[in-house]
Amino acid sequence: MSDRDLQVFGIDLGTTYSAIAYVDETGRPTVCRNTDSNETTPSVVFFENETNVVVGSVAKNSAIIDPDRVVSLIKRQMGSDAEFEFHGTTYTPESISALILKQLAQDAAAHTGREVTRAVITVPAYFGMLERSATKNAGRIAGLDVIGIVPEPVAAALHYEATTDAEDKTILVYDLGGGTFDTTVIRVSKDEIVVVCTDGDDHLGGADWDLRLRNHLLAKFLEQAPKGTEVEDDEEFLQSLTTTAEETKKQLSRAESRAVALRGAGVSARVEVTRAQFEDETRDLLDKTIDIVRRTLKTLQTKEPGAQIDDVLLVGGSTKMPAVAERLRAEFGWEPKLHDPDLAVAKGAALYALGRVVHREMQEASGSDVAEAVQEVARQTGISARALEDLATKQTRNVLPKAFGVKLVDTSDPDWRSKPTRHFVKHLVHANDSLPTEERLLEAVTVEEGQTGVEIELYEQSGVVAGPELSENKPINEGRGLIDGLPPLPVGSPVNIRMTVDDEGLLELTATEPSTGKSLDIKVRVSVRSDEEVEAATKVVAGITVTG
Ligand SMILES: Nc1ncnc2c1ncn2[C@@H]1O[C@H](COP(=O)(O)OP(=O)(O)OP(=O)(O)O)[C@@H](O)[C@H]1O
Ligand SMILES: [Mg+2]
Repeated sequence: MSDRDLQVFGIDLGTTYSAIAYVDETGRPTVCRNTDSNETTPSVVFFENETNVVVGSVAKNSAIIDPDRVVSLIKRQMGSDAEFEFHGTTYTPESISALILKQLAQDAAAHTGREVTRAVITVPAYFGMLERSATKNAGRIAGLDVIGIVPEPVAAALHYEATTDAEDKTILVYDLGGGTFDTTVIRVSKDEIVVVCTDGDDHLGGADWDLRLRNHLLAKFLEQAPKGTEVEDDEEFLQSLTTTAEETKKQLSRAESRAVALRGAGVSARVEVTRAQFEDETRDLLDKTIDIVRRTLKTLQTKEPGAQIDDVLLVGGSTKMPAVAERLRAEFGWEPKLHDPDLAVAKGAALYALGRVVHREMQEASGSDVAEAVQEVARQTGISARALEDLATKQTRNVLPKAFGVKLVDTSDPDWRSKPTRHFVKHLVHANDSLPTEERLLEAVTVEEGQTGVEIELYEQSGVVAGPELSENKPINEGRGLIDGLPPLPVGSPVNIRMTVDDEGLLELTATEPSTGKSLDIKVRVSVRSDEEVEAATKVVAGITVTG
C-alpha cells in the first residue's frame, strides 16, 4: 500500500462556483486554494483557442468582452444531449465540466504537492441518475478515478456531523446555490446518514437573483439616460451589468443600500439600490423556495408521520442573503444555521471520500488485519485510527432522486394507433423511494390481437414533478428490449414487469410473458453517453491545456 493510494479529494462541482478539498494530517477537511488564492473557482470556461482554455475568474471576466467563447452555468445542462462548438471541436456538457474539474485537480495538485487521481464529486440531491452518470463521466473525461458521486446535502450533513457531534438528529438542509435549489431531510447519527426525502428546482439559484437585480439596474439606468438611448446591442455593457449585479447583490447581504456607478452607450449614471428594494424584486423567487420546503415537509409526513425537524442547515452561497433565514424563521419558526455555506459541501465530500478509501482498505484486509489496515492508514495520513474508523463505518443511505418507468399505450381512445400522444410513461419506482428500492411489479397487457412481440422501453422522469407525458420523461440509453418469437397472443394477454434500482443507480428490469415463460432482462446503469463517446472526449480534453 503506497502513500499515493490514500490520497483522495472531494469536489463540489457547482453551477457557479466549484471547490476541491482533502482531509489533512490533523483529520480536518481543508479546501485547496486556486491560483488566485481563492477557495472557490468560478465554474466558467473560456475557449481561448484550439488548444487552450481558461477556467475561473479570468474566464468569468472574459465573458464581458468575449461572451461567444465563454460557457457558464453548464451544470444546468448536465444529462442533456446539448453540444457546443469552439474552434472546430465539439464539446458536451460533460466535457466542459471536465475542463473545470481538470483545473480544480491542477490547483489541488499545486496546493498539496500530490497527484490528484481519485475523487468524489457531489451533485444536487434531486439530480436524476442521468445527471449523476453525466457527472461521473465528466470526472472520467478529466482523467479522474471517480470513486463516488454524493448528494450535496449528504456531504454538507457529513461535515456538520463531523464538526458539531450532532447526535441522532433530523435536519433539513436548505441549499440555495448559484443555479440550483434543493431541500433535503436527513437523519444524522454517528453510524448513519440517511436521506429521508428530497426536493428541489434545478433552475433556481443566485443567478436568478442576479438577473432580477440586473434588470432593475438597467431600468434605473435607462430612466436616467437621455430618451432613445439604445443599449441592447452593447454586449459589453450588458455583460458588465450582470457582473455588477452579482457584486451588488453580495454587498447587499451586509449593507442596507448600495450606490452603483454604471457606464454604457456613452451615458454615466448612478443608481442607488436598497436591500428592501432588492428583496421586493425577488420575493417571488424566495416564495418558490418556501413552497418547495413545504412540499418537502409534506413528503416527510407521508413517509414518516410525526417526524420533527431538529435543525435547519443553510448551505450554498445564496443563503448568505439575510432574507433567507428571516423568511424561514417567519414561516416555520426555525432558527436556521449558516453552516460554512460556501465550503461545507466540498469539505463533506472530502470526508466521505476518505471514508470510502478506508472502508475499502478495511474490506480488503481480512479478519484480524482490519485494525492493522486502519492503523496503516492512520500512520500514513497522520489521522487518528479512531477518526478514520468512524468515517469508514458511517453508512449513507439515499433515496431515488427521480422516478423510473416504462412506456405504455392508452388504448381507451379508439384512435390510439394514429395518436402518438397516447403513449405515456407508467412509473414503477418513485422519487424519494429509499435505495435500494423494493421490487416493484406492473402487470401490463398486450394491445394488438395476435401480437408476437412485446417491446419494453425505460424512461426516467425529467422534471421535478413526475408526470406521465413522454415529454416529461427521458428515454434511457440501452434501456430497451424486445420479447419476440411469441405465439400469436390474444389482445389483453398479461406481461409481468418487475423493476428495482440499487444504491448505485443500477436499474434492473425483468419482463415475462407468463404463458411461454419467455422473458427479457434489462440491466442498465443509466447514462446519456456510451463508453466510446466518453473515451473520445477524454482524448480531446487530455489534449487541451487548461489554465486558471
Ligand atoms: N454574500 C453573498 N450574498 C448573496 N449571495 C451570495 C453571497 N456570496 C455568494 N453568493 C451567491 O452564491 C452563489 C454561489 O453559491 P454556491 O457556490 O454555493 O453555488 P454553486 O455551488 O455554484 O451552485 P449549485 O450548488 O447550485 O450548483 C452565487 O450566485 C453567488 O452570487
Ligand atoms: Mg453548490
